[in-house]
Amino acid sequence: MPSVSRADLSPEPVVRPRLTVLGTGYLGATHAACMAQLGFEVLGVDVDASKIATLASGRVPFYEPGLEEVLEGAIASGNLRFTTSFEEAAAFGDVHFVCVGTPQKPGEMAADMSYLDACLDMLLPHLRRPALLVGKSTVPAGTADRVAARIAAEAPAGSSLAWNPEFLREGYAVEDTLHPDRLVVGTVRETDLQTMRTVYAPLLEAGVPMVETDFATAELVKVSANAFLATKISFINAMAEVCETTGADVTQLSKALSYDTRIGGRFLQAGLGFGGGCLPKDIRAFMARAGELGVDQALSFLKEVDAINLRRRARTVDLGRELLDGSFAGAKVTVLGAAFKPDSDDVRDSPALDVAATIARQGGRVTVYDPKANANAELRHPELAYASSTAEALAGADLTLLLTEWREFRELDPAEAKQAVAIPQIVDGRNALDAVAWRSAGWTYRALGRP
Ligand code: UGA
Repeated sequence: MPSVSRADLSPEPVVRPRLTVLGTGYLGATHAACMAQLGFEVLGVDVDASKIATLASGRVPFYEPGLEEVLEGAIASGNLRFTTSFEEAAAFGDVHFVCVGTPQKPGEMAADMSYLDACLDMLLPHLRRPALLVGKSTVPAGTADRVAARIAAEAPAGSSLAWNPEFLREGYAVEDTLHPDRLVVGTVRETDLQTMRTVYAPLLEAGVPMVETDFATAELVKVSANAFLATKISFINAMAEVCETTGADVTQLSKALSYDTRIGGRFLQAGLGFGGGCLPKDIRAFMARAGELGVDQALSFLKEVDAINLRRRARTVDLGRELLDGSFAGAKVTVLGAAFKPDSDDVRDSPALDVAATIARQGGRVTVYDPKANANAELRHPELAYASSTAEALAGADLTLLLTEWREFRELDPAEAKQAVAIPQIVDGRNALDAVAWRSAGWTYRALGRP
Protein backbone atom coordinates (compact mmCIF):
# COMPACT_ATOMS: atom_id res chain seq x y z
CA MET A 1 0.00 0.00 0.00
CA PRO A 2 1.16 3.59 -0.56
CA SER A 3 2.90 5.06 2.44
CA VAL A 4 0.79 8.23 2.48
CA SER A 5 -2.74 8.64 3.78
CA ARG A 6 -5.42 11.33 3.72
CA ALA A 7 -4.49 12.17 7.29
CA ASP A 8 -0.92 13.07 6.31
CA LEU A 9 0.07 16.69 6.45
CA SER A 10 0.35 17.47 2.76
CA PRO A 11 1.12 20.64 0.83
CA GLU A 12 -1.65 23.02 -0.16
CA PRO A 13 -3.03 22.30 -3.63
CA VAL A 14 -1.44 24.51 -6.31
CA VAL A 15 -3.86 27.18 -7.48
CA ARG A 16 -2.88 27.19 -11.14
CA PRO A 17 -0.78 24.06 -11.66
CA ARG A 18 1.63 23.79 -14.57
CA LEU A 19 1.15 20.48 -16.35
CA THR A 20 3.47 18.09 -18.12
CA VAL A 21 2.28 15.23 -20.30
CA LEU A 22 4.80 12.38 -20.41
CA GLY A 23 4.37 10.33 -23.58
CA THR A 24 2.86 11.99 -26.65
CA GLY A 25 1.09 9.17 -28.50
CA TYR A 26 -2.64 9.27 -29.35
CA LEU A 27 -3.53 9.81 -25.70
CA GLY A 28 -0.72 12.13 -24.59
CA ALA A 29 -0.65 14.43 -27.63
CA THR A 30 -4.42 14.89 -27.41
CA HIS A 31 -4.38 15.42 -23.65
CA ALA A 32 -1.54 17.98 -23.89
CA ALA A 33 -3.22 19.99 -26.65
CA CYS A 34 -6.66 19.93 -25.01
CA MET A 35 -5.40 20.89 -21.52
CA ALA A 36 -3.52 23.80 -23.12
CA GLN A 37 -6.71 24.82 -24.93
CA LEU A 38 -8.47 24.76 -21.57
CA GLY A 39 -6.00 27.42 -20.44
CA PHE A 40 -3.24 25.53 -18.64
CA GLU A 41 0.47 25.91 -19.33
CA VAL A 42 1.49 22.51 -20.66
CA LEU A 43 4.79 20.88 -21.55
CA GLY A 44 4.60 17.73 -23.72
CA VAL A 45 7.46 15.29 -23.23
CA ASP A 46 8.61 12.27 -25.21
CA VAL A 47 11.84 10.33 -25.76
CA ASP A 48 11.14 10.29 -29.52
CA ALA A 49 12.87 13.46 -30.80
CA SER A 50 11.28 13.33 -34.26
CA LYS A 51 7.78 13.04 -32.79
CA ILE A 52 8.50 16.01 -30.52
CA ALA A 53 9.85 18.07 -33.45
CA THR A 54 6.70 17.30 -35.48
CA LEU A 55 4.37 18.24 -32.61
CA ALA A 56 6.37 21.39 -31.82
CA SER A 57 5.88 22.51 -35.43
CA GLY A 58 2.11 22.18 -34.99
CA ARG A 59 1.72 18.94 -36.92
CA VAL A 60 0.20 15.71 -35.57
CA PRO A 61 2.31 12.60 -36.37
CA PHE A 62 -0.82 10.43 -36.81
CA TYR A 63 -4.32 10.93 -38.23
CA GLU A 64 -6.80 12.25 -35.69
CA PRO A 65 -9.63 14.48 -36.95
CA GLY A 66 -9.62 17.96 -35.39
CA LEU A 67 -6.46 17.50 -33.33
CA GLU A 68 -4.15 19.55 -35.53
CA GLU A 69 -6.38 22.64 -35.17
CA VAL A 70 -6.36 22.33 -31.36
CA LEU A 71 -2.58 21.75 -31.36
CA GLU A 72 -1.87 24.77 -33.58
CA GLY A 73 -4.11 27.00 -31.48
CA ALA A 74 -2.52 25.83 -28.24
CA ILE A 75 1.02 26.43 -29.52
CA ALA A 76 0.06 29.86 -30.90
CA SER A 77 -1.44 30.84 -27.53
CA GLY A 78 1.92 30.18 -25.86
CA ASN A 79 0.33 27.61 -23.54
CA LEU A 80 1.88 24.53 -25.13
CA ARG A 81 5.52 23.57 -25.69
CA PHE A 82 7.32 20.29 -26.26
CA THR A 83 10.64 18.86 -25.09
CA THR A 84 12.60 15.63 -24.89
CA SER A 85 14.15 16.69 -21.56
CA PHE A 86 12.78 15.08 -18.41
CA GLU A 87 14.95 17.45 -16.40
CA GLU A 88 13.07 20.37 -17.96
CA ALA A 89 9.78 18.57 -17.31
CA ALA A 90 10.65 18.05 -13.64
CA ALA A 91 11.54 21.72 -13.21
CA PHE A 92 8.40 22.92 -15.05
CA GLY A 93 5.57 20.77 -13.79
CA ASP A 94 3.43 20.77 -10.68
CA VAL A 95 1.31 17.94 -12.09
CA HIS A 96 2.82 15.27 -14.36
CA PHE A 97 0.39 13.20 -16.47
CA VAL A 98 1.87 9.80 -17.31
CA CYS A 99 0.49 8.82 -20.73
CA VAL A 100 3.03 6.25 -21.99
CA GLY A 101 1.94 3.10 -23.80
CA THR A 102 1.47 -0.31 -22.16
CA PRO A 103 1.41 -2.63 -25.19
CA GLN A 104 1.05 -6.41 -25.11
CA LYS A 105 4.36 -8.17 -24.43
CA PRO A 106 5.49 -10.05 -27.53
CA GLY A 107 4.48 -13.70 -27.20
CA GLU A 108 2.61 -13.13 -23.94
CA MET A 109 -0.81 -11.97 -22.80
CA ALA A 110 0.50 -9.56 -20.17
CA ALA A 111 1.10 -5.84 -20.62
CA ASP A 112 4.63 -4.54 -21.14
CA MET A 113 5.23 -2.07 -18.31
CA SER A 114 8.74 -1.10 -19.37
CA TYR A 115 7.73 2.31 -20.81
CA LEU A 116 6.00 3.26 -17.58
CA ASP A 117 8.97 2.15 -15.48
CA ALA A 118 11.41 3.98 -17.79
CA CYS A 119 9.31 7.14 -17.56
CA LEU A 120 9.53 7.08 -13.75
CA ASP A 121 13.27 6.33 -13.97
CA MET A 122 13.71 9.46 -16.08
CA LEU A 123 11.46 11.81 -14.11
CA LEU A 124 11.79 11.00 -10.41
CA PRO A 125 15.54 11.71 -9.96
CA HIS A 126 15.07 15.21 -11.43
CA LEU A 127 12.22 16.32 -9.15
CA ARG A 128 13.34 19.08 -6.78
CA ARG A 129 9.98 19.97 -5.19
CA PRO A 130 6.81 18.07 -4.31
CA ALA A 131 4.91 17.02 -7.41
CA LEU A 132 1.68 15.20 -8.20
CA LEU A 133 2.03 12.40 -10.73
CA VAL A 134 -1.19 11.37 -12.48
CA GLY A 135 -1.36 7.94 -14.07
CA LYS A 136 -3.44 7.82 -17.26
CA SER A 137 -1.89 4.78 -18.95
CA THR A 138 -3.97 1.57 -18.98
CA VAL A 139 -2.34 -0.69 -16.40
CA PRO A 140 -2.75 -4.00 -14.59
CA ALA A 141 -4.44 -3.81 -11.17
CA GLY A 142 -1.92 -2.99 -8.47
CA THR A 143 0.27 -0.73 -10.61
CA ALA A 144 -0.80 2.48 -8.86
CA ASP A 145 0.25 1.13 -5.47
CA ARG A 146 3.60 0.16 -6.95
CA VAL A 147 4.08 3.61 -8.53
CA ALA A 148 3.03 5.34 -5.29
CA ALA A 149 5.64 3.34 -3.39
CA ARG A 150 8.31 4.45 -5.87
CA ILE A 151 7.23 8.08 -5.51
CA ALA A 152 7.39 7.79 -1.71
CA ALA A 153 10.90 6.35 -1.93
CA GLU A 154 12.39 8.37 -4.78
CA ALA A 155 10.61 11.75 -5.07
CA PRO A 156 10.83 14.79 -2.76
CA ALA A 157 8.73 14.53 0.42
CA GLY A 158 5.14 15.61 -0.19
CA SER A 159 5.04 14.18 -3.72
CA SER A 160 2.08 11.98 -4.50
CA LEU A 161 0.04 10.05 -7.06
CA ALA A 162 -3.47 10.18 -8.51
CA TRP A 163 -4.92 7.58 -10.89
CA ASN A 164 -7.04 9.03 -13.68
CA PRO A 165 -7.85 6.56 -16.48
CA GLU A 166 -8.65 7.84 -19.95
CA PHE A 167 -11.59 6.69 -22.07
CA LEU A 168 -11.00 8.52 -25.36
CA ARG A 169 -11.62 6.78 -28.64
CA GLU A 170 -9.36 7.23 -31.63
CA GLY A 171 -11.17 9.25 -34.26
CA TYR A 172 -13.03 11.19 -31.52
CA ALA A 173 -10.05 11.93 -29.29
CA VAL A 174 -10.56 15.70 -29.05
CA GLU A 175 -14.31 15.47 -28.49
CA ASP A 176 -13.86 12.72 -25.88
CA THR A 177 -11.17 14.71 -24.04
CA LEU A 178 -13.02 18.02 -23.97
CA HIS A 179 -16.49 16.49 -23.42
CA PRO A 180 -15.95 13.14 -21.67
CA ASP A 181 -18.87 11.04 -20.39
CA ARG A 182 -17.19 11.00 -17.00
CA LEU A 183 -13.94 11.58 -15.15
CA VAL A 184 -12.56 8.94 -12.81
CA VAL A 185 -9.95 9.94 -10.24
CA GLY A 186 -8.34 7.69 -7.64
CA THR A 187 -6.45 9.44 -4.85
CA VAL A 188 -5.12 8.81 -1.37
CA ARG A 189 -4.81 12.39 -0.09
CA GLU A 190 -7.52 15.06 0.05
CA THR A 191 -5.04 17.64 -1.32
CA ASP A 192 -4.51 15.60 -4.46
CA LEU A 193 -8.24 15.33 -5.03
CA GLN A 194 -8.47 19.11 -4.75
CA THR A 195 -5.63 19.51 -7.24
CA MET A 196 -7.42 17.16 -9.66
CA ARG A 197 -10.62 19.19 -9.24
CA THR A 198 -8.60 22.30 -10.15
CA VAL A 199 -7.06 20.60 -13.18
CA TYR A 200 -10.48 19.50 -14.44
CA ALA A 201 -12.39 22.59 -13.25
CA PRO A 202 -13.44 23.62 -16.80
CA LEU A 203 -14.96 20.16 -17.39
CA LEU A 204 -16.57 19.94 -13.95
CA GLU A 205 -18.13 23.38 -14.47
CA ALA A 206 -19.58 22.07 -17.74
CA GLY A 207 -21.32 19.33 -15.76
CA VAL A 208 -19.05 16.34 -16.45
CA PRO A 209 -19.54 13.87 -13.57
CA MET A 210 -16.40 12.87 -11.64
CA VAL A 211 -16.17 9.57 -9.79
CA GLU A 212 -13.81 10.12 -6.85
CA THR A 213 -12.40 6.84 -5.69
CA ASP A 214 -9.36 4.81 -4.67
CA PHE A 215 -6.45 3.61 -6.81
CA ALA A 216 -7.64 0.03 -7.25
CA THR A 217 -11.11 1.06 -8.41
CA ALA A 218 -9.77 3.75 -10.76
CA GLU A 219 -7.42 1.25 -12.42
CA LEU A 220 -10.20 -1.34 -12.75
CA VAL A 221 -12.78 1.04 -14.22
CA LYS A 222 -10.60 1.40 -17.29
CA VAL A 223 -9.96 -2.27 -18.02
CA SER A 224 -13.47 -3.32 -17.11
CA ALA A 225 -14.93 -0.68 -19.47
CA ASN A 226 -12.84 -2.04 -22.34
CA ALA A 227 -13.66 -5.63 -21.34
CA PHE A 228 -17.38 -4.78 -21.39
CA LEU A 229 -17.15 -3.13 -24.82
CA ALA A 230 -15.20 -6.10 -26.22
CA THR A 231 -17.78 -8.48 -24.72
CA LYS A 232 -20.66 -6.55 -26.26
CA ILE A 233 -19.04 -6.73 -29.70
CA SER A 234 -18.27 -10.43 -29.33
CA PHE A 235 -21.80 -11.07 -28.08
CA ILE A 236 -23.34 -9.73 -31.28
CA ASN A 237 -20.68 -11.53 -33.33
CA ALA A 238 -21.58 -14.80 -31.57
CA MET A 239 -25.20 -14.10 -32.56
CA ALA A 240 -23.91 -13.56 -36.11
CA GLU A 241 -22.46 -17.08 -36.05
CA VAL A 242 -25.84 -18.45 -35.00
CA CYS A 243 -27.56 -16.32 -37.66
CA GLU A 244 -25.31 -17.87 -40.29
CA THR A 245 -26.63 -21.35 -39.53
CA THR A 246 -30.27 -20.42 -38.91
CA GLY A 247 -30.73 -18.06 -41.84
CA ALA A 248 -31.42 -15.07 -39.58
CA ASP A 249 -30.09 -11.56 -40.26
CA VAL A 250 -27.82 -10.19 -37.52
CA THR A 251 -28.25 -6.57 -38.63
CA GLN A 252 -32.01 -6.79 -38.03
CA LEU A 253 -31.45 -8.73 -34.83
CA SER A 254 -29.08 -6.03 -33.59
CA LYS A 255 -31.55 -3.29 -34.56
CA ALA A 256 -34.35 -5.03 -32.69
CA LEU A 257 -32.16 -5.47 -29.59
CA SER A 258 -31.08 -1.83 -29.69
CA TYR A 259 -34.61 -0.52 -29.00
CA ASP A 260 -34.37 -2.11 -25.55
CA THR A 261 -32.78 0.75 -23.65
CA ARG A 262 -31.33 -1.74 -21.17
CA ILE A 263 -29.26 -3.15 -24.04
CA GLY A 264 -28.74 -0.13 -26.30
CA GLY A 265 -27.44 -0.13 -29.84
CA ARG A 266 -23.89 1.12 -29.44
CA PHE A 267 -21.08 -1.41 -29.89
CA LEU A 268 -23.65 -3.85 -31.23
CA GLN A 269 -22.43 -3.68 -34.82
CA ALA A 270 -21.69 -7.22 -36.00
CA GLY A 271 -18.88 -7.80 -38.46
CA LEU A 272 -15.18 -8.44 -38.56
CA GLY A 273 -14.80 -7.63 -34.87
CA PHE A 274 -12.56 -5.47 -32.75
CA GLY A 275 -8.91 -4.58 -33.18
CA GLY A 276 -6.65 -1.63 -32.40
CA GLY A 277 -4.10 -0.83 -29.74
CA CYS A 278 -6.56 -1.15 -26.83
CA LEU A 279 -9.44 -3.65 -26.73
CA PRO A 280 -7.53 -6.81 -27.78
CA LYS A 281 -4.45 -6.24 -25.64
CA ASP A 282 -6.45 -4.91 -22.69
CA ILE A 283 -8.65 -8.02 -22.36
CA ARG A 284 -5.55 -10.23 -22.63
CA ALA A 285 -3.61 -8.23 -20.03
CA PHE A 286 -6.70 -8.28 -17.79
CA MET A 287 -6.84 -12.10 -18.00
CA ALA A 288 -3.10 -12.37 -17.35
CA ARG A 289 -3.34 -10.15 -14.28
CA ALA A 290 -6.40 -12.04 -12.99
CA GLY A 291 -4.33 -15.21 -13.25
CA GLU A 292 -1.56 -13.67 -11.15
CA LEU A 293 -4.13 -12.57 -8.58
CA GLY A 294 -5.73 -16.02 -8.45
CA VAL A 295 -9.10 -14.86 -9.83
CA ASP A 296 -8.66 -16.16 -13.38
CA GLN A 297 -12.04 -17.95 -13.22
CA ALA A 298 -13.78 -14.59 -12.91
CA LEU A 299 -12.46 -13.55 -16.31
CA SER A 300 -12.34 -16.86 -18.14
CA PHE A 301 -15.28 -15.64 -20.30
CA LEU A 302 -12.88 -13.12 -21.85
CA LYS A 303 -11.02 -16.03 -23.44
CA GLU A 304 -14.24 -16.77 -25.33
CA VAL A 305 -14.67 -13.07 -26.18
CA ASP A 306 -11.20 -13.10 -27.74
CA ALA A 307 -11.84 -16.41 -29.54
CA ILE A 308 -15.18 -15.26 -31.02
CA ASN A 309 -13.44 -12.10 -32.21
CA LEU A 310 -10.63 -13.97 -33.95
CA ARG A 311 -13.06 -16.48 -35.51
CA ARG A 312 -14.73 -13.60 -37.37
CA ARG A 313 -11.46 -12.94 -39.19
CA ALA A 314 -11.19 -16.59 -40.20
CA ARG A 315 -14.86 -16.62 -41.29
CA THR A 316 -14.27 -13.56 -43.50
CA VAL A 317 -11.36 -15.30 -45.22
CA ASP A 318 -13.55 -18.41 -45.69
CA LEU A 319 -16.37 -16.36 -47.26
CA GLY A 320 -13.90 -14.86 -49.74
CA ARG A 321 -12.44 -18.26 -50.61
CA GLU A 322 -15.92 -19.72 -51.16
CA LEU A 323 -16.69 -16.98 -53.67
CA LEU A 324 -13.51 -17.88 -55.55
CA ASP A 325 -14.57 -21.53 -55.76
CA GLY A 326 -12.29 -22.75 -53.00
CA SER A 327 -8.94 -21.12 -53.76
CA PHE A 328 -7.32 -17.69 -53.67
CA ALA A 329 -4.42 -18.90 -55.82
CA GLY A 330 -3.64 -16.29 -58.48
CA ALA A 331 -6.87 -14.31 -57.88
CA LYS A 332 -6.76 -10.52 -57.80
CA VAL A 333 -8.24 -9.62 -54.43
CA THR A 334 -9.06 -6.04 -53.46
CA VAL A 335 -9.21 -5.12 -49.79
CA LEU A 336 -10.93 -1.83 -48.95
CA GLY A 337 -9.65 -0.66 -45.59
CA ALA A 338 -6.53 -1.32 -43.51
CA ALA A 339 -7.08 0.76 -40.36
CA PHE A 340 -8.61 -1.01 -37.36
CA LYS A 341 -11.60 1.31 -37.70
CA PRO A 342 -12.59 4.31 -39.85
CA ASP A 343 -11.28 7.83 -39.13
CA SER A 344 -7.98 6.42 -37.91
CA ASP A 345 -4.65 5.54 -39.53
CA ASP A 346 -3.91 3.04 -36.75
CA VAL A 347 -3.24 -0.50 -37.96
CA ARG A 348 -2.31 -2.06 -34.61
CA ASP A 349 -4.02 -5.48 -34.43
CA SER A 350 -6.17 -4.42 -37.38
CA PRO A 351 -8.71 -7.09 -38.38
CA ALA A 352 -8.70 -5.73 -41.96
CA LEU A 353 -4.96 -6.05 -42.38
CA ASP A 354 -4.94 -9.44 -40.69
CA VAL A 355 -7.48 -10.74 -43.23
CA ALA A 356 -5.57 -9.17 -46.14
CA ALA A 357 -2.30 -10.79 -45.05
CA THR A 358 -3.96 -14.18 -44.54
CA ILE A 359 -5.45 -14.10 -48.05
CA ALA A 360 -2.03 -13.19 -49.47
CA ARG A 361 -0.46 -16.13 -47.60
CA GLN A 362 -3.07 -18.36 -49.20
CA GLY A 363 -2.03 -17.28 -52.68
CA GLY A 364 -4.24 -14.25 -53.41
CA ARG A 365 -2.73 -11.23 -55.19
CA VAL A 366 -3.93 -8.68 -52.65
CA THR A 367 -4.23 -4.93 -53.27
CA VAL A 368 -5.13 -2.81 -50.26
CA TYR A 369 -6.52 0.71 -50.23
CA ASP A 370 -7.17 2.76 -47.10
CA PRO A 371 -7.84 6.52 -47.20
CA LYS A 372 -5.35 7.20 -44.35
CA ALA A 373 -3.61 4.00 -43.25
CA ASN A 374 -1.77 2.82 -46.39
CA ALA A 375 1.64 4.02 -45.13
CA ASN A 376 1.30 2.40 -41.70
CA ALA A 377 -0.03 -0.79 -43.29
CA GLU A 378 2.87 -0.98 -45.73
CA LEU A 379 5.38 -0.74 -42.86
CA ARG A 380 3.87 -3.89 -41.30
CA HIS A 381 2.93 -5.72 -44.49
CA PRO A 382 5.30 -4.73 -47.31
CA GLU A 383 4.37 -7.96 -49.11
CA LEU A 384 0.91 -6.57 -50.01
CA ALA A 385 0.28 -4.17 -52.91
CA TYR A 386 -1.20 -0.75 -52.12
CA ALA A 387 -3.41 1.37 -54.36
CA SER A 388 -3.75 5.13 -54.05
CA SER A 389 -7.53 5.31 -54.60
CA THR A 390 -10.65 3.17 -54.44
CA ALA A 391 -10.89 3.22 -58.24
CA GLU A 392 -7.29 2.02 -58.64
CA ALA A 393 -7.86 -0.71 -56.05
CA LEU A 394 -11.05 -1.99 -57.69
CA ALA A 395 -9.63 -2.16 -61.23
CA GLY A 396 -9.75 -5.76 -62.47
CA ALA A 397 -10.62 -7.32 -59.08
CA ASP A 398 -11.82 -10.93 -58.99
CA LEU A 399 -13.03 -10.42 -55.43
CA THR A 400 -13.56 -7.31 -53.28
CA LEU A 401 -13.68 -7.22 -49.49
CA LEU A 402 -14.85 -4.19 -47.51
CA LEU A 403 -13.04 -4.51 -44.18
CA THR A 404 -12.96 -0.98 -42.67
CA GLU A 405 -16.17 1.01 -43.05
CA TRP A 406 -14.81 4.39 -44.15
CA ARG A 407 -17.58 6.69 -45.38
CA GLU A 408 -16.19 6.70 -48.94
CA PHE A 409 -16.61 2.90 -49.05
CA ARG A 410 -20.08 2.98 -47.49
CA GLU A 411 -21.12 5.49 -50.15
CA LEU A 412 -19.71 3.56 -53.12
CA ASP A 413 -22.05 3.37 -56.10
CA PRO A 414 -22.46 -0.37 -56.81
CA ALA A 415 -23.21 0.21 -60.53
CA GLU A 416 -20.08 2.31 -61.00
CA ALA A 417 -17.94 -0.08 -58.96
CA LYS A 418 -19.17 -2.98 -61.11
CA GLN A 419 -17.69 -1.35 -64.22
CA ALA A 420 -14.23 -1.36 -62.60
CA VAL A 421 -13.95 -4.95 -61.37
CA ALA A 422 -13.42 -8.17 -63.34
CA ILE A 423 -15.93 -10.18 -61.27
CA PRO A 424 -18.61 -8.32 -59.25
CA GLN A 425 -18.48 -10.17 -55.96
CA ILE A 426 -18.02 -8.57 -52.57
CA VAL A 427 -17.63 -9.62 -48.95
CA ASP A 428 -19.00 -6.87 -46.69
CA GLY A 429 -16.96 -7.51 -43.55
CA ARG A 430 -18.57 -4.62 -41.67
CA ASN A 431 -22.24 -4.93 -42.66
CA ALA A 432 -21.82 -1.43 -44.02
CA LEU A 433 -23.47 -1.74 -47.44
CA ASP A 434 -27.07 -1.93 -48.61
CA ALA A 435 -27.30 -5.60 -49.61
CA VAL A 436 -30.40 -5.06 -51.76
CA ALA A 437 -28.81 -2.22 -53.74
CA TRP A 438 -25.60 -4.16 -54.36
CA ARG A 439 -27.42 -7.33 -55.39
CA SER A 440 -29.75 -5.48 -57.72
CA ALA A 441 -26.73 -3.81 -59.35
CA GLY A 442 -25.54 -7.31 -60.25
CA TRP A 443 -23.11 -8.08 -57.44
CA THR A 444 -22.81 -11.35 -55.55
CA TYR A 445 -22.99 -9.97 -52.03
CA ARG A 446 -21.92 -11.87 -48.91
CA ALA A 447 -21.75 -10.55 -45.36
CA LEU A 448 -21.11 -11.85 -41.87
CA GLY A 449 -24.24 -12.97 -40.04
CA ARG A 450 -26.61 -12.38 -42.93
CA PRO A 451 -28.22 -14.76 -45.42
C1 UGA B 1 -11.37 1.92 -27.17
C2 UGA B 1 -12.50 2.37 -26.22
O1 UGA B 1 -13.71 2.51 -26.96
C3 UGA B 1 -12.14 3.70 -25.56
O2 UGA B 1 -13.15 4.07 -24.64
C4 UGA B 1 -10.81 3.54 -24.83
O3 UGA B 1 -10.40 4.76 -24.23
C5 UGA B 1 -9.75 3.09 -25.83
O4 UGA B 1 -10.14 1.86 -26.44
C6 UGA B 1 -8.46 2.92 -25.06
O5 UGA B 1 -8.38 2.02 -24.24
O6 UGA B 1 -7.55 3.75 -25.22
P1 UGA B 1 -10.61 2.61 -29.65
O7 UGA B 1 -9.56 1.54 -29.52
O8 UGA B 1 -10.24 3.94 -30.18
O9 UGA B 1 -11.27 2.89 -28.21
O10 UGA B 1 -11.73 2.01 -30.59
P2 UGA B 1 -13.26 1.63 -30.50
O11 UGA B 1 -14.10 2.73 -31.06
O12 UGA B 1 -13.61 1.15 -29.16
O13 UGA B 1 -13.31 0.40 -31.52
C7 UGA B 1 -12.57 -0.78 -31.24
C8 UGA B 1 -12.81 -1.82 -32.29
O14 UGA B 1 -14.11 -2.37 -32.17
C9 UGA B 1 -12.68 -1.37 -33.73
O15 UGA B 1 -11.92 -2.31 -34.44
C10 UGA B 1 -14.11 -1.33 -34.23
O16 UGA B 1 -14.21 -1.57 -35.60
C11 UGA B 1 -14.74 -2.46 -33.43
N1 UGA B 1 -16.19 -2.33 -33.24
C12 UGA B 1 -16.71 -1.29 -32.54
C13 UGA B 1 -17.02 -3.32 -33.74
O17 UGA B 1 -16.57 -4.29 -34.36
N2 UGA B 1 -18.38 -3.21 -33.53
C14 UGA B 1 -18.91 -2.19 -32.85
O18 UGA B 1 -20.16 -2.16 -32.69
C15 UGA B 1 -18.06 -1.20 -32.35
